Amino acid sequence: MRVSKYFLLFCLFLSFVTKLNAQSINWTEIEPGIWKGVIGKPEEFDLLKAAGVQPYHAGLQQMPKVGFPLVQEEITAHVQDGKTYLSFPLQKKEQLFGFGLNFQTVFQRGKVLTLHVDNYAGKDNGRTHAPTPFYVSSNGYGVFINSARYINVYAGTAVRRDSKVPPEVKDRNLDKTWSSHPYSDAVEMLVPAAGAEIYIFAGPTTLDAIRRYNLLNGGGCLPPRWGLGFTQRMQRLTDAQGVAAEAQAFEEKGYPLDFIGLEPGWQSKSYPCTFEWDKSRFPDPEAMVQGMLKKNVRINLWTNPYVSPEAPVYKDILPYSASHTVWNGIVPDISMPAARKIFFGNLEKGKIDIGISGYKMDEVDGGDNYLWPDVAVFPSGHDAEQMRQTYGLMMQRYTSEIYHQRNQRTFGLVRASNGGGSSFPYVIYNDYYDHRDFITALVNSGFAGVLWTPEVRSSKTGEEWLRRFQSNVFSPMAMINAWASGTKPWSFPEVAEQVKTMANLRMQMMPYWYSEFAKYHFEGIPPFRAMYLEDGFAGSETKTENKKLNLEENPYEEAITKEVKDQYMAGEFLLVAPMFAGQTSRKVILPKGRWFDFYTGKYAGNGEVISVEPGLDKIPVYVKDGGIIPMMPIMLHAPKAGQKVNIEIRYYGDKPGTYSLYDDDGETYDYEKGNYTFRKISVSKTNGKLKSGITPVLKGKPDNIGKVTFRIMTGQ
Ligand code: GAL
Repeated sequence: MRVSKYFLLFCLFLSFVTKLNAQSINWTEIEPGIWKGVIGKPEEFDLLKAAGVQPYHAGLQQMPKVGFPLVQEEITAHVQDGKTYLSFPLQKKEQLFGFGLNFQTVFQRGKVLTLHVDNYAGKDNGRTHAPTPFYVSSNGYGVFINSARYINVYAGTAVRRDSKVPPEVKDRNLDKTWSSHPYSDAVEMLVPAAGAEIYIFAGPTTLDAIRRYNLLNGGGCLPPRWGLGFTQRMQRLTDAQGVAAEAQAFEEKGYPLDFIGLEPGWQSKSYPCTFEWDKSRFPDPEAMVQGMLKKNVRINLWTNPYVSPEAPVYKDILPYSASHTVWNGIVPDISMPAARKIFFGNLEKGKIDIGISGYKMDEVDGGDNYLWPDVAVFPSGHDAEQMRQTYGLMMQRYTSEIYHQRNQRTFGLVRASNGGGSSFPYVIYNDYYDHRDFITALVNSGFAGVLWTPEVRSSKTGEEWLRRFQSNVFSPMAMINAWASGTKPWSFPEVAEQVKTMANLRMQMMPYWYSEFAKYHFEGIPPFRAMYLEDGFAGSETKTENKKLNLEENPYEEAITKEVKDQYMAGEFLLVAPMFAGQTSRKVILPKGRWFDFYTGKYAGNGEVISVEPGLDKIPVYVKDGGIIPMMPIMLHAPKAGQKVNIEIRYYGDKPGTYSLYDDDGETYDYEKGNYTFRKISVSKTNGKLKSGITPVLKGKPDNIGKVTFRIMTGQ
């Protein structure tokens, strides 16, 4: 075929126009190891503005000094027809992680996604509760696009004509190595706006890039101590007596309980909501809340933001609401100060101001068939898409602000978040209920700057109940969500004791969890994260399974990349490998270095795949050599501010170990004014003899640590 000269001229013209449009990006180092580049004219409303958080400078200053992690000229961008085209380089062996809270996959290279806040519907296609436009690379850098738009991502799928390392052209007729996914050397994105801000995060490690991202967002959240205890969400139509009876049952049976969640029935009407107590079920909410507080049990309230025509605030908020309704409730435009004053003022009045400890903010994610559509109009002028991407962020921001003003920490639940949300004291949950996928989400949460709970609701068998409970205890929020079925920890009598042991373990580990969350806040290290972020983890090489190519049915099928998504790191030292119902044994990949059994201290392996048969009572957990786990006695409620608690330091393996044990009042924001301590623990063993120490409390600093004892776990 002869190519016409007009066509060639046209091509030349096109490439000229593209080059003309290609904008050189000026990179400014805004914090150590974080560069910002501006393309076109970024919109006035974006994720970071919606979240309104300030970088945690002190934490960022501690990070290693590094240079720009990519070749700047290889990042290209241009704006055309009101859209921003972005292209980032990608090396041959690079793996990508992130792009939000995914449930089924950890490796994101080769994915085509549309990042869109939504109720997860069983497919990792970008529609999820926190579609954070942030990815990190195994080569040790991160990229964040600060835009409140639905962003299309081609994560190493498309092949550019100007590629420096184009894939080899192959003949499908005879060449068995022909691939339907030729090698792509770029991550490309399309932002449907005439500009965007790009942030590049240096490593040197992948974890460092994540840390910089979290610190840019203000540092990870630091929950109150009680937030790390156990929480029970009650059946939706429970009443004040039911609440009292529940707390009493927990106490009598000896199950820990720090807060109770009330589901829709606390409101006089829900879906849409009145935000008013139902006086038949809760005649005196204040007395109920205060009575519970005296018993060290806090109350958390469910709500969605959709305002019923019968809500007392309806008339006031009507002028500040969207053109469309959700379940016949109006949608407050919470990006407007006037709407916020009414809406959040109402969440405070008669709720937070009578002692409510926090909220569960439901249905701020989707799905499409009940949420406001993209054609909805909001009075602020922010469009429906921007509101969809940021509503969960804003709900977190403005409720947190109320608590912050009261100098009282909160810890709640939310069903949508996004880039910028790391510092908000909220945990994501959903209605999906696949235990394995729940663990994959936990693995991915650390890449997305969010917290996720694999909540326990109901189960077909006692075995499933216990297995779900075990992994839930090793997660940011230990919780039963009994809103539908009214389950209790002891609902399956055959495993009630094992469930209690696990709940107690959660409490015993509180000093560890609390210190790990402090590292999330001050150092940006996600407390729950993927094995791929761990030094010496061999699974990082991409292994592929054989192609199941079938020319009739799936002629473009490619080899499946094996990923490790059923084990994760919990805090500095622990590797958790959940068991799923029906399993009696499983394989665990131990990174290089010696690892020890959490329960017995026995040696488990070193840089190898082990097969374990833990029995029903245990969830396999391993500790790194030199690992230090601070524990406290079993308590039914988290220690209160000022309450001294004895600490047992468990020490594993043979290597000398150190640990930073965090302490503050556990309830207020005084830590922001420097009212906290990290006490250094050090332990070593020579010829079986223990040498241990903990640095003293500095004068004027919080001191909630009582007697400290040491326990050698290995070789005793
Ligand atoms: C769902 C939520 C559940 C429960 C329920 C109450 O949307 O995910 O956890 O709160 O609403 O109606």
